[in-house]
Amino acid sequence: MCGIIGYVGQQKAVDVVIEGLRRLEYRGYDSAGVAVVAGNEVQVRRRAGKLANLEKLLAEQPLPLSTFGMGHTRWATHGAPTDRNAHPHMDEAAQVAVVHNGIIENFASLRAQLEDGGVMLASDTDTEVVSHLLAQAFDGDLAEAMRAVCRRLEGAFTLVAIHAAQPDVVVGARRNSPLVVGRGEGENFLGSDVSAFISHTRHAVELGQDQVVEIRPHQIVVTTFDGKPADVKEYEVDWDASAAEKGGYDYFMLKEIHEQPKAVADTLLGRIDDDGHLQLDEMRLSDEDLREIDKVVIIGCGTAYHSGLIAKYSIEHWTRIPVEVEVASEFRYRDPILGRHTLVIAISQSGETMDTLMAIRHAREQESRVLAICNVNGSTIPRESDAVVYTYAGPEIAVASTKAFLTQIVAVNLVALYLAQVRGTKWGDEIIRHIDELAAMPEAVDRVLDTVEPMRALARELVDAKAVLFLGRHVGYPVALEGALKLKELAYMHAEGFAAGELKHGPIALIEQDLPVVVIVPPRSRKVLHDKIVSNIQEIRARGARTIVIAEEGDDTVAPYADTLVPVPAVPTLLQPIVATVPLQVFACELASAKGYDVDQPRNLAKSVTVE
Ligand code: M6R
Repeated sequence: MCGIIGYVGQQKAVDVVIEGLRRLEYRGYDSAGVAVVAGNEVQVRRRAGKLANLEKLLAEQPLPLSTFGMGHTRWATHGAPTDRNAHPHMDEAAQVAVVHNGIIENFASLRAQLEDGGVMLASDTDTEVVSHLLAQAFDGDLAEAMRAVCRRLEGAFTLVAIHAAQPDVVVGARRNSPLVVGRGEGENFLGSDVSAFISHTRHAVELGQDQVVEIRPHQIVVTTFDGKPADVKEYEVDWDASAAEKGGYDYFMLKEIHEQPKAVADTLLGRIDDDGHLQLDEMRLSDEDLREIDKVVIIGCGTAYHSGLIAKYSIEHWTRIPVEVEVASEFRYRDPILGRHTLVIAISQSGETMDTLMAIRHAREQESRVLAICNVNGSTIPRESDAVVYTYAGPEIAVASTKAFLTQIVAVNLVALYLAQVRGTKWGDEIIRHIDELAAMPEAVDRVLDTVEPMRALARELVDAKAVLFLGRHVGYPVALEGALKLKELAYMHAEGFAAGELKHGPIALIEQDLPVVVIVPPRSRKVLHDKIVSNIQEIRARGARTIVIAEEGDDTVAPYADTLVPVPAVPTLLQPIVATVPLQVFACELASAKGYDVDQPRNLAKSVTVE
């Protein structure tokens, strides 16, 4: 939610900044802006809309040559997505420029104080107060001014600033919002995430909470908000710039859908030790802690929540520990019953989702153990957790989550099996058998991708459909929810997922002639479930629905009731979401594209939601 980049070095800053913003645009695309400091002057260009609008403006009104600069791509919170609300924001004397990600919760009172002091604010944003406060606090040292201002701010923020009177430094600060430093040779970077500078350096410095960083071409200085030297962690990014390119695909989403076999395989790599035991080496909870767990609570948002719903089936089945699953945004406000023996599993691709972060903080305050399942190394949620299991999906750029979802399903199965191993609810050979089943998933997903063309054709055929329903049972139910979410966010269509058995309790009234209904059919080995859903398909078909049936290969029993049959490889029930979700991803992607919508950057959305 909002992308930020800062640069100091020898290159033309505006070029580095625009390139970084292009990679960060997935974080928000309501406006974009850039500022440079040159000749003791700060100059800003900013424009509402996508980055292309800013580039057009820069072509008409070029910035002066400078090797110090910063940029911002916005997901609007305070103030409409207009030119005047676009970042960077400046003080009245145009000495300081500021970009911001997050929400400054006490901005109204700060704004009132500034206005009482005669300051005229030029935008509706919470950010602008920071530029005026920095200008007032500046006494020759921008980092010192930043520390003083940050101590007055409440809420979540990443800030980056430059000042005309101190043109050799770019200063950043963070509280509850992401900011990473890129260490180059004679140049340094700030970024909301490493993709901002990945084409220049893979050496990254992870900042902690409430820290201020000053970057100069040959120096990085990090302090706390109180000015004390701060501990930081350096690491190497394990992917390169090509991973953040489209690689010949029309959309990042399509590329990421096709990367799923590899992402699943990578997430499984190295999980069995020399003694044949499942190992999760980022697991910092002792076996004793894990044996004491008497309840698991899983939290996540959107797609991550759906993988949590799937996790419930695996964890309860293999460990017999009761599992609750909850959307993170509701969690802490209902006073959940938590304690030392509760394991809270937080699932998040980005590791920065504010609802999830606040939920884990609440859980830790209640002394619960927190295990994060996350895709972004060094992000806030794993850093604030007791243990982390990383998914190795690589960078996910498209706003719609695809490969992260499949790898989250793999990760929750690994966690379930690990708990079973530690608690002795499964024998070692059973665990290895299940790991082998997981190891067969990359090939199964590959096969789905090879046979998915009819799903594309169907999407083009249904481009004018008013709504689509999705039905599933057991782990097929979260798949139905995920299929509907993809369609809503990409094709802006009314789409709902239901537990198939629940349909007769109300939603069946929605069925009308030719309404497309996608049904995820459980494997034939689950006879009771399977028979029930075949009945459900007949019920909706009798009422005129157009049935699109996803069933395992060779399932002839459903064929007579399917207007379109989408076969997927036969796999164990608990792993069926890994194959059954893929056609739904392709369907939503193709339908959005057929409607002419922006597949990678759907309206109103941002990849990483860092506000509550
Ligand atoms: O980064 P996270 O996994 O925490 O993000 C959670 C949701 O915002 C995310 O899954 C969202 O629902 C996706 N855009 C769905 O495709």
